[in-house]
Amino acid sequence: MSSILVEPARGIEGVGQRVEALLSRMSLEEKIGQLSLANAGDSYIHDYLADALRAGRVGGVLNEVNAGVVNELQRIAVEESRLGIPLLIGRDVIHGFRIVMPIPLGQAATWDPDLVMRAARVAAQEAAAAGVNWTFAPMIDVCRDPRWGRIAESLGEDPFLASVLGVAMLRGFQGPDLGRPGAIAACAKHFAGYGAVESGRDYAAANVPENELRNVYLRPFRAAVEAGVASVMTSFSEVDGVPATANERLVRGILKDEWGFDGFVVSDWDSVRQLHTHGLTANDRESAREAARAGVDMEMHGDAYIAHLPALVRDGELDEGLIDAAVRRILRVKFGLGLFEHPFTDPAALPSVAGEASLATARRAALRGIVLLRNEHRVLPLSLENLRSLAVIGPLADAPDDQLGTWVFDGDAGLSVTPLQAIRDLSAGRLELRYLRAMETSRSRDTGAFEEAAGLAAQSDATILFLGEEAILSGEAHCRADISLPGAQAELVARVRHAGKPLIVVILAGRPLTLANIVDQADAILYAWHPGTMGGPAIADLLFGIESPSGKLPVSFPRMVGQIPIYYSHKNTGKPPSPDSVVHIDDIDPKARQLSLGMTSFHLDAGYTPLFAFGHGLSYASFEYSDLRLSSSEITPGQSFIVSCDLRNTGEVRAEEVVQLYVRDLVGNVTRPVRELKGFRRVALDPGQQAVVDFRLHTDDLAFYGRDMRLMVEPGEFQVWIGGSSETGLCSAFRVVPPG
Ligand code: NOJ
Repeated sequence: MSSILVEPARGIEGVGQRVEALLSRMSLEEKIGQLSLANAGDSYIHDYLADALRAGRVGGVLNEVNAGVVNELQRIAVEESRLGIPLLIGRDVIHGFRIVMPIPLGQAATWDPDLVMRAARVAAQEAAAAGVNWTFAPMIDVCRDPRWGRIAESLGEDPFLASVLGVAMLRGFQGPDLGRPGAIAACAKHFAGYGAVESGRDYAAANVPENELRNVYLRPFRAAVEAGVASVMTSFSEVDGVPATANERLVRGILKDEWGFDGFVVSDWDSVRQLHTHGLTANDRESAREAARAGVDMEMHGDAYIAHLPALVRDGELDEGLIDAAVRRILRVKFGLGLFEHPFTDPAALPSVAGEASLATARRAALRGIVLLRNEHRVLPLSLENLRSLAVIGPLADAPDDQLGTWVFDGDAGLSVTPLQAIRDLSAGRLELRYLRAMETSRSRDTGAFEEAAGLAAQSDATILFLGEEAILSGEAHCRADISLPGAQAELVARVRHAGKPLIVVILAGRPLTLANIVDQADAILYAWHPGTMGGPAIADLLFGIESPSGKLPVSFPRMVGQIPIYYSHKNTGKPPSPDSVVHIDDIDPKARQLSLGMTSFHLDAGYTPLFAFGHGLSYASFEYSDLRLSSSEITPGQSFIVSCDLRNTGEVRAEEVVQLYVRDLVGNVTRPVRELKGFRRVALDPGQQAVVDFRLHTDDLAFYGRDMRLMVEPGEFQVWIGGSSETGLCSAFRVVPPG
């Protein structure tokens, strides 16, 4: 396992000695002070905070981003407290700071780890300039329920994709060495199972059996730990009857003891005291005891630790060694960040906030994450040569705040370039543009402007409708039970469609929406998520073919809510469906008592497939996959082999394709998914150009947790696919054979 908390040159040993030397001088109260993360929300708290800092009763502060105030808080901690221990300054830098990158789900749609890393790097540097040295990101909860508002913050439904991109993001935040200027500590959250909350309702229970937890939900966390993440946050939810913040089996057992995590664990906001509300403990004292025993090192906002840990230790209910271990973990990160040497922020030493290079990164991230879901008759790209007039209609065409999405505490909407503005700039007077907002918000039910909208569409050569969800409809505690286009948007689509002109729908949203009721009415659908500050230029570049779309879905799109959870790597069941076993409710013979062919696993009113599959995304080019080859069709555990194919751009424009590798383990000690993503790569090709795309597959990549919860690679037969989505691909097979 690599640890990037400490630069080797400065020495892990050296840090260990400094931690011990400091710890030996600390009183019990000072130790417990380090375990307390205080909110700097308002001035009353600031007065209280200054006194608490002087008394050594605070280890970190969250939600202060004024560099002057942060430096003053650090000064008090360093100069006026007895031991002079600097502070962690935490903030939710989730997808950008001043410049806002696409929401994490949109970044996941880039399938581009390097770009995700660079986007996080920009955010880290901007945040560090404000004095922030710790972000509560990446969120690596695997999520298969688009009703959950926090799917926006996630990296999608797949453990492999979330692992690769989560590691890229944390590396972007932490850099190669936490101690360098502009690096900030990352926090992998929310440990664990939060993405599986019942019915996608935030904070609800997550009932995930341990085998599923290990094979799916814990995988990105293990990857983050192996990559040296500095901290991990527990989840608000419970797993199997025990809230994560008191879940000793998960936190101390799996995360710390089994995986050897050497950073620290922080609770979520007040989630220690919430143990009582959950019904696990009778009072705050018990909550503090249970969380500390479980291995939660720091309490975020809440005073259960500061109020009760001293007495719990003195009364013999908690071992002081457990407190010492928590303090060690926190101090190690503070030393790793170089805070003892450089407690203050110096914005002048960092790249300028909202600089050109950073804006270019934001634009590229938006561009590569936008997914072309549908493009009938190649209506896109639009051509400035052939088009004289264009109607731009909808509540999200010119909404500088909403295009930023959820969790943008510090984002500067003044920097946003909206799609309307970008289309204006790009067409530079060569088009007659007719703009109508038509709806005040995405939720509006007022259809008063729809006649005018239909009129504009009828007079124009083409129409672009900017629809979706405002930022406030996704994010923490912003869940929806109906995830179709809100308000009267479907009616707007129908009215504009009636004009009979080419209709392009661009959707800005924080989640997959159910689009079955509009999909056939749109000639093209471009799914832009909440694309951030530079979403407008990215969308315009794609609409007019300056660039070809290359985003791929990091999550399946259900046809209707009742299919949820629907995800590509489901299990086969004992009665798997097939196209000819599916019967639609409208086609059932009125006299039938039972379906003759349909005794398989599907819904009578929705079949079994999603509307758009995981990995799907069209391009203005077309790609031909051929000649799938395996360097060996038999491997023994510990070996690797190469899977490759030829990829040819058979279209007329240069474009990028995300090539995806999937496998299926046909027989397992526990049942295995029908497909699992094991590799992906972005490939850029000119028209007519061909390339070999290869992947090295190691038997470790095939390992899974068996019935005894141990990681295993089993001999047996596997299928392998390479293709452009989870539904397509060239297929072959190989075997893992026992050694000797
Ligand atoms: C609650 C959220 O669940 C968590 O993700 C966030 O980091 C904290 N609040 C701090 O704002």
